[in-house]
Amino acid sequence: MKTLKNDRFLRALMRQPVDCTPVWMMRQAGRYLPEYRAVRAKAGDFLSLCKNAEFACEVTLQPLHRFDLDAAILFSDILTIPDAMDLGLYFVEGEGPKFRQCVRTELDVARLKPPKIETELDYVLRAVRVIRNALNGTVPLIGFSGSPWTLACYMVEGGASKDFRHIKAMMYNRPELMHQLLAVLTDTVADYLNAQIDHGVQAVQIFDTWGGVLSEPCYQAFSLDYMHAIVQKLKRKSEGRPVPVILFTKNGGQWLSAMVATGADALSLDWSTAIGAARQQVGKRVALQGNMDPALLYADKPVIRQEVSRILADFGAYNGHVFNLGHGIHQFVEPDKAKIFVDAVHELSVPYHQKN
Ligand code: CP3
Repeated sequence: MKTLKNDRFLRALMRQPVDCTPVWMMRQAGRYLPEYRAVRAKAGDFLSLCKNAEFACEVTLQPLHRFDLDAAILFSDILTIPDAMDLGLYFVEGEGPKFRQCVRTELDVARLKPPKIETELDYVLRAVRVIRNALNGTVPLIGFSGSPWTLACYMVEGGASKDFRHIKAMMYNRPELMHQLLAVLTDTVADYLNAQIDHGVQAVQIFDTWGGVLSEPCYQAFSLDYMHAIVQKLKRKSEGRPVPVILFTKNGGQWLSAMVATGADALSLDWSTAIGAARQQVGKRVALQGNMDPALLYADKPVIRQEVSRILADFGAYNGHVFNLGHGIHQFVEPDKAKIFVDAVHELSVPYHQKN
């Protein structure tokens, strides 16, 4: 086993003892950092940034230079998969992602070509290798993918949506067609994550950003069952170490027990769920990640520290907590606030790890 200087994050995901609570931030590389905006300008646009391994590596490392983070996350996007399916992904400033072609009919689904990961998404795997090399064993590298349901939301709606009317109409009127699309995405996501693991990521997170817009039976049938299938297909060991799997369903706090049944190692919580109650519910079956409201980073230092302290106390003196925000860091946050947050987690969590 190659040594890792700081393996707190991987240990906590496996519910092993640590010296203090590890922390990273969803979207830790992004527009709130002026140095990110500079590299993005150099790259030309967001997709060119993702597709250039050296630039992707540079922005992955930027937050680690500023903050004492316990993990790096591959700089990429969940929409690389539909992009590789030739749906014509582009970004409109202020409006988010869009597709030139949406997937709505039987013919659209039948025409979809699952991408060959090693060739069509080779730029992602190259970025993984370049980043692992640059990290040089300091902290672990997280890989990720969108969930099949969340990817389908963008593909069917043709971009971001507030009401999900096209995908929900498809799900209710043509459930078999919906399942056909999700099955294609499930195989692709599993292959994609396994390729990321082969090329060097040390943990993976599945972002189910839109699972929480579903009813309970639909969540189970159209999102969770497919994530379950993915978890079962993943390589759970690499380089002599477990490769932990984290599931994040935004607004999924009411379904934690069902999520545990997928066999994931950890569940990531948004801020609407009380982490102490969640821990009691899941017991020792999984680790928990989260879950400070990202908007706390607009507050003053004492308020941020107080909220970190409240969440640590709510979780309690148990193994298996990775601190994070409940969702991505906002673009208008001052970077100094992120430093206050990260340092507070390390400093204030020490007493919770001094048992035994
Ligand atoms: O966490 C990290 O630092 C890694 C990078 C990362 C990005 N996207 C970079 C990014 C990750 C993990 C994602 C995942 C992602 N992408 C999700 C799931 C996570 C979540 O936030 O729920 C989703 C839904 C997307 C789709 C997507 N890509 C959206 C909605 C946007 C924002 C568009 C906008 O204009 O606000 C993106 C673009 C994107 N992905 C940016 C970054 C840093 C901003 C691009 C830029 O303008 O520089």
